[in-house]
Amino acid sequence: MNYLNLRRLRKKESTRKLLSEIRLSVYDFIMPYFVVEGKNQKQQISSMPNIFRYSIDNLIKEVQEIYKLGIQAVLLFGVPDKKDDFGRNAYNKNGVVQKAIKIIKKELPEITVITDVCLCSYTSHGHCGILKHEVYKKSGNFIDDKTTLEILSKTAVSHAEAGADIVAPSAMMDSQVKLIREALDKNGFEDVAIISYSAKFASNFYGPFREAANSTPKFADRKSYQLNFCNINEALREIEQDIKEGADIVMVKPALAYLDVIKTVKESFSVPIVAYSVSGEYSMIKVAAKKGFLDEKNAVLEILTSIKRAGANLIITYWAKELAKWLED
Ligand code: PBG
Repeated sequence: MNYLNLRRLRKKESTRKLLSEIRLSVYDFIMPYFVVEGKNQKQQISSMPNIFRYSIDNLIKEVQEIYKLGIQAVLLFGVPDKKDDFGRNAYNKNGVVQKAIKIIKKELPEITVITDVCLCSYTSHGHCGILKHEVYKKSGNFIDDKTTLEILSKTAVSHAEAGADIVAPSAMMDSQVKLIREALDKNGFEDVAIISYSAKFASNFYGPFREAANSTPKFADRKSYQLNFCNINEALREIEQDIKEGADIVMVKPALAYLDVIKTVKESFSVPIVAYSVSGEYSMIKVAAKKGFLDEKNAVLEILTSIKRAGANLIITYWAKELAKWLED
């Protein structure tokens, strides 16, 4: 009578709960927000049901609500009114993100404010960096690294000045973590941490975000600076480099199609890992659920559990608010 019968441990909900190896907690989640200029704005994003672009007055109400539900951090993306070739609004003291940080800090200093540091919503061409001279544009490496790094560093410092707790460079430019760390320290922001979007793949799952952030590249794509999705060793090299440069937390993005990457990073390094469950992951479930093809809550709990099981310490997810409510039930 020594045969294995694991079913006796699965027969009751309460027993299954007792034996769950992974438990999602509201503290696992970071809620992303898109912030626009103006007053009383709550703009629908057609490819992301139930996600909105908020003006600061409405954003603060949202942030207060999710903090009450137990969410400990927000990630802010600015969607500015004005763009130019150099993304100058990204480091404007009165830019939309800088103003939003200040208000959140004033009204709700307890919450952790994380900011995305990138230029794609701020440049007229929609790339994450500044372009080299016209002639080079169509060739492979069309980003002017030096100028881009200067502008990214200025942007990170402007977020820190406004009160950001953590800056998250997402432009995938070499040396960005090092230069941002140096710029922060030089300006007295030694306590501002860096989440590096280290393993950010050139993914097909960012489409809805680009509608939300109005950041679709006007020509070519991001394959020359984001990772090739075939490559895990390359992802590990990026992570290793970013840790050396001073990243406090590293990111794997997207999450669902990259669980193996999350697991390998977990096994190889000791820094905290944040996984970004991106817009395409969100929208595909929303659409299927709307059609009645699957149950949204249960599908989401399963997916998010898999991301945590793979080794993510934190998960950026557009479901954060809904998850906080579901986990209370
Ligand atoms: C910008 C950025 C992107 C996302 C986060 N920061 C998009 C991109 O690289 O085009 C995507 C997030 C999502 O899809 O939810 N660099």
